[in-house]
Amino acid sequence: MDYELKSTALEKLRTDCLVIGVYAGHRLSEAAAAIDRSTQGQVLNALKKIELDKCGALHLLLDAPHTKAERILLVGLGPRKEYGPQAYRKAVSAVVGFLRNDRSTNLTLTLAAEPCKKASPYELSRDAVLAAEEALYRFDACKSDKAKDAPKHPLTRLQFWQPNRKAEAKAQKGLAHGRAIAQALALAKDLANLPGNICTPGYLADQALALGGRLKAIKVEVLEEEQMRGLGMGALLSVARGSRQPAKLILMEYRGGKADQKPVALVGKGLTFDAGGISLKPGPGMDEMKYDMCGGASVIGAIQACAELELPINLVGLVPASENLPDGDANKPGDIVTSLSGKTIEVLNTDAEGRLILCDALTYAERFEPELVIDIATLTGACVVALGHHANGLLANHQKLADKLLAAGQAINDRAWQLPLWEEYQKQLDSPFADMANIGGKSAGTITAACFLSRFTEKFKWAHLDIAGTAWISGKDRAATGRPVPLLIQFLLDHCGQAE
Ligand code: BES
Ligand code: MN
Ligand code: ZN
Repeated sequence: MDYELKSTALEKLRTDCLVIGVYAGHRLSEAAAAIDRSTQGQVLNALKKIELDKCGALHLLLDAPHTKAERILLVGLGPRKEYGPQAYRKAVSAVVGFLRNDRSTNLTLTLAAEPCKKASPYELSRDAVLAAEEALYRFDACKSDKAKDAPKHPLTRLQFWQPNRKAEAKAQKGLAHGRAIAQALALAKDLANLPGNICTPGYLADQALALGGRLKAIKVEVLEEEQMRGLGMGALLSVARGSRQPAKLILMEYRGGKADQKPVALVGKGLTFDAGGISLKPGPGMDEMKYDMCGGASVIGAIQACAELELPINLVGLVPASENLPDGDANKPGDIVTSLSGKTIEVLNTDAEGRLILCDALTYAERFEPELVIDIATLTGACVVALGHHANGLLANHQKLADKLLAAGQAINDRAWQLPLWEEYQKQLDSPFADMANIGGKSAGTITAACFLSRFTEKFKWAHLDIAGTAWISGKDRAATGRPVPLLIQFLLDHCGQAE
């Protein structure tokens, strides 16, 4: 899709469909008023017969006399007083979702023309691209008839109209960032939506290698089980023992910053299917555990975006990838494994496997002497209980880092909420036999999981994002969301001074 900014006079603008907004109570936006004047009252005339108060409500005018537009689409913006980024995104999404199956291939949106409360030109164009790409995203890789749901006349160009060119540079930057973030989101979603029998640890590794082949600035290396054994990654390997698919540790490096600048390390859980192991999960909904690699997918997506945008930053991505299945050779409750750090772990529940693969990857991250480390994982069902599906869970050993992640999430509408990582919780992990147990009992499951990880991150600034509630939508319309790709990219943009 091509995205472009336009400031041509509205009535002279050539487009298949001109989209104009109408506020609740049928108050015209400035663009709608201008079109109403040049079409001799067509807009107000149409509004006499329809209801358009709801944000995202649509009405297509088939005629656009005295303009160079083939047709005009009216879209409800909701109450004028409340018109802000949220309503704007909703309107863009409704328009693009509707016109996806239409004859128009070239659209012009005028919805950002008016002061959208608290939103900058950068934000408006970034969010328009994100909302449009979200509305257009489909996952049909595993359908035999891909043409069935594909549009006959796919959209090829979206034009964003602005009355003047005042903020053009900022708006252009917003388009570029929006495009890179949307591509990263699509990559993360594609990987996550694939089933476990296709998206195996080996497949994930191959996709990372392919990305490294496509973008020369990204170097990718994959550690095999034998190498991990040589290093002493006993925790990670113990999870893979029950699987016929060999585990992989995917290492990605993007060096866009100064040679002597310490990298940011992103560590993403890449559990390509989590049956729970011997501590088997219940059957219903178990298929959704193919999404247990969403943390890893978000790391791969974020690195792609940084490379596409050529950000001046050094970045390392680590994705420990494995399956977690029951088997005669699988981890058993009570087994004790030795992690790369040397610390021993009593595996009381084989379903608490994410922390086992992450702890070795976190220890391995020390080699890169990172400035800071962020891990991203669909780690605990308890996080879904605590925060539902809106907020990413956030825990950190460094408050300034946590604050930056909270702010990044706010800025790009991919919010996180912090939980405490107090010392008092640590003793829930006590084990009479090993240095620690891998579970901390019934209470505060998200916190004790982070407590576990904190024992492997003492050497650096570290934050943990628990995305169990945000990475995918459950049930009939199950689908990966791509979160927290936007949060990660916003954080990295802030970090290297390239944000808005
Ligand atoms: N991948 C799951 C966490 C999960 C559960 C994510 C439900 C999304 C929805 C993780 O590996 C897991 O099984 N965690 C256990 C930990 C428990 C055994 C301490 C859980 O949350 O039940
Ligand atoms: Mn599990
Ligand atoms: Zn898991």
